Amino acid sequence: MNWDDTTDETSAAEAGERLVGASAAGDDQAVEAALRPKDLHEFIGQEKVREQLDLMLRAARARGATADHVLLSGAPGLGKTTLSMIIAAEMEAPIRITSGPAIQHAGDLAAILSSLQEGEVLFLDEIHRMSRPAEEMLYMAMEDFRVDVIVGKGPGATAIPLELPPFTLVGATTRAGLLPPPLRDRFGFTAHMEFYEPAELQLVIDRSAHLLDVTIGADGSAEIAGRSRGTPRIANRLLRRVRDYAQVKADGVVTREIAAAALGVYEVDERGLDRLDRAVLEALLKLFGGGPVGLSTLSVAVGEERETVEEVAEPFLVREGLLARTPRGRVATPAAWAHLGLAPPQGRGSGTSGQGDLFGA
Ligand SMILES: Nc1ncnc2c1ncn2[C@@H]1O[C@H](COP(=O)(O)OP(=O)(O)OP(=O)(O)O)[C@@H](O)[C@H]1O
Ligand SMILES: [Mg+2]
Repeated sequence: MNWDDTTDETSAAEAGERLVGASAAGDDQAVEAALRPKDLHEFIGQEKVREQLDLMLRAARARGATADHVLLSGAPGLGKTTLSMIIAAEMEAPIRITSGPAIQHAGDLAAILSSLQEGEVLFLDEIHRMSRPAEEMLYMAMEDFRVDVIVGKGPGATAIPLELPPFTLVGATTRAGLLPPPLRDRFGFTAHMEFYEPAELQLVIDRSAHLLDVTIGADGSAEIAGRSRGTPRIANRLLRRVRDYAQVKADGVVTREIAAAALGVYEVDERGLDRLDRAVLEALLKLFGGGPVGLSTLSVAVGEERETVEEVAEPFLVREGLLARTPRGRVATPAAWAHLGLAPPQGRGSGTSGQGDLFGA
């Protein structure tokens, strides 16, 4: 039995429980390959990044040079892997794909680096999870296109310098803050990927629907876009579930009503909150009057682990301005009351608890 497979399956299953999880799960990987834009023109949104990257790649091409190293940072599912492949395609260069956790020893990295062709793109996913010795080897490789291979052990060990062909490193990370500054500084170009606007996600959905042969109206894609949490991966996943529903329950055509009904079945609401997100909000509002309440209490109330509430549910609720983390505990914002269709208690409407009580009518 292959233990790696087991771990992958477990994490995929955990993430896969959530239709609105941003990490790749279940059958995502197979489908995503088919839905990936192949060049910069097809890549939707991220105007700034696209324009800057386009300039940089064009200039490198015109000079007949290898492109600068690129760091792509941003939340899961926003298109980092997709962009790395586009960079290689635009440079008409082959791409080698590996990831930080796969490189445990400096020797692993040396083997990859020394087998690169001139101009090749090396995509290093989750670059923040590389081991320290490998990281240090990478510094020199990025800057001088050279590595020192250590041969032998102890006092007899010698470093044999090895010249590398020029290559382009594309690093991807969901945690740019965890990268040591010396590594970050060695990238010629850093792109920070933002969450997508609903209008952009609508374009992503229309494009995917076309590729998957799904008939969808503008109102149908708008409905799905609004529930996709600013993330193309989630948009594509929701589209697939809606397609199934349209096929089974209707004539296969995705309208606003079909999309809303389908995502209702999967408990993804108009704003992209799922059952867990809403359970947390409901407990906060109904049991604790909107807070402040401590994380532990809130977690017990919804019957989940602290970590699940803190790391799985809260980030999106905070991003959406529905929940605030304060030193005294979790607090619901007025938008949270409105979203669940509840009236805030008297004198607490402002959401700035103390003040409302003191100065309220
Ligand atoms: N700008 C975009 N236009 C169209 N589709 C996109 C765009 N960005 C991402 N996608 C789609 O979203 C899916 C996920 O993208 P991708 O795998 O590149 O994300 P990622 O940032 O690498 O995620 P992770 O951090 O989990 O590795 C892909 O199927 C891709 O087709
Ligand atoms: Mg990726």
